[in-house]
Parts: sequence; C-alpha cells; structure tokens
Amino acid sequence: MSDKPGRNDFCWCGSGRKYKKCHAPIEDRMDACSSEGHEVPHLKLLKTQQQIEGIRESGKRNTALLDFIGDYVADGVTTEELDRLIDTKTREFGGVPATLHYNGYPKSVCVSIDDVVCHGIPSDRVILKNGDIVNIDVSTIYNGFFSDSSRMFLVGDVSGEKRRLVDVAKECMELGIEQVKPWSFLGDIGQAINDHARKNGYSVVREIGGHGVGLQFHEDPWVSHVSQQGTGMLLVPGLVFTVEPMVNMGKAGVFVDKDDSWTVYTQDGKPSAQWEKTVLVTETGYEILAY
Ligand code: MF3
Ligand code: CO
Repeated sequence: MSDKPGRNDFCWCGSGRKYKKCHAPIEDRMDACSSEGHEVPHLKLLKTQQQIEGIRESGKRNTALLDFIGDYVADGVTTEELDRLIDTKTREFGGVPATLHYNGYPKSVCVSIDDVVCHGIPSDRVILKNGDIVNIDVSTIYNGFFSDSSRMFLVGDVSGEKRRLVDVAKECMELGIEQVKPWSFLGDIGQAINDHARKNGYSVVREIGGHGVGLQFHEDPWVSHVSQQGTGMLLVPGLVFTVEPMVNMGKAGVFVDKDDSWTVYTQDGKPSAQWEKTVLVTETGYEILAY
C-alpha cells in the first residue's frame, strides 16, 4: 500500500473500481488536509471492502449477543452467570470473546453496575438486584475480525433519576455518532456528547474513550468523549471505531480498583451509564457495525 497504484489500476481496497475513481481522490484530499496541518489517519486504518465485510459479520454476532443476554438480566442473577451465557453463546456463533485473556482480563464480558463505570469483572459474588442499572459490554472476534458494543439494562424497578441517566447517556452516544461523516473532525463527536451531558447536569468520563477496532481489539484512533469541535483526526471513509461515552450522574472523576486493577468506579460513588456502538465512516456518513 506504500506504492500507489496507477490511476487506471484497480483500487487497493478491493472495491473493483479504478484507483482514480476510488481511493485516489480520498488520498489526494488527505494529503491536502495534511499539508494544511490537520491530523489524518494512517492509510492502514482505512479498512478494505473485505475487512469491512468481516467486521460487519463480527458485529452482527456481537449485536445478537446483546439481544440474547437481555432476557437473563434479573434480580438474583450473578454476573458470573451472565459471563457463562455470553461465553457459551459467542462460541455457538463461531466466535471468541475478545476480552478473555486480553491484557490479563479474566472474563468473556464486562458487567458494570451503578457506580462501576466500566470493566466490571463478572463474579459469583456479584448479584444483580432490584433497582440496579447495568452495563453489559460485549466484544467478539469472528474470523479474526473484532467488534465491540454495549448497552444498559434495568433490573426491576429503577428510580426515575437513574432511568434518566441511562436515557441521557444513550442520547449522548447517538448525538456523538450523528457527527460522524467524512471530512469532519473526530473532536466533533466528543463535543456533541459532552454538551448534551452537561446540559442535563451530568459529567462525562475523560480518561477512558472509544477506540479504533476491527483488525485488533484496540487500534487508533483514541476517541475522546469530551473533545472540542473542529479538532483531532479527520474522519475518512473506511475508518472504524467505537463511540462509548460513560456519563456520570455526579462528578467526572473515576478510579481503578487497586486489588483487581480493572474495575473502574466513580470517585463520588454516584451512578454512571454507558452505551457503545462500533461505527464505520462511509462516503456519505456512517454505518453502525455493532449495536
Ligand atoms: N469493551 C471494552 C472496551 O470498550 C473492553 C475493555 S478491555 C477489557 O474497550 F479487558 F476490560 F475487557
Ligand atoms: Co470499546
């Protein structure tokens, strides 16, 4: 890919179009933007048609896993049980859970309740109870392609104030994703998210963000959810990344559990909510690859 194809050759991306009708204009525009001082993605981050199809297939399974697990979220269920269900179903689908053994992470899913912001480790000592808000974060490797998404689930009767947090966090993710279109800025996403959270009296976690995904679990770019409009990497068709804001009812501060070195909590003990999708930048806007 370092040697550019001839303008009349087939494009390197496998679209079947000539290079001059496919990636040549994209690369020309990236070069021009880069000369103006903008950050542009490395070409290797732009997925080919075949890679996109692979991530799409992985994402379909990831989405189906979240559809499936909803029925099991109930008072009295342990997060260990949710882990077992996700692990088994992922393999039934022909996939492998991406979190298992990832940088030493011991389980096949992250389950984060109330003041756990993210990366909650399933355990037979953690039992869902009436009134909890629960994030279930699933990631799948299928045929070597990675996808990643998460949703919030409510256990029984949840207070109005926690339900509002869950709803606003979802709106934040959606508003962030609506910013995704070619030649806009990565920073536009975090601006939209942070504006909406603050307008509702909430705060957004700063230290943990979204990430490129597809050929590996975590790739460039890192996606801040508190960034400034008009800053950061230019969005270019073929980029794939997650948008996964963590929205806190109280202050934005978080800390990592000293004992397990994974679980992230809110500093002030107030609840946090998160939703995540895997998003592809297309020629006209975006496509969701995992819901
Ligand atoms: N799905 C999480 C993410 O969005 C996974 C974190 S890595 C883990 O990146 F090891 F904690 F699972
Ligand atoms: Co993620």
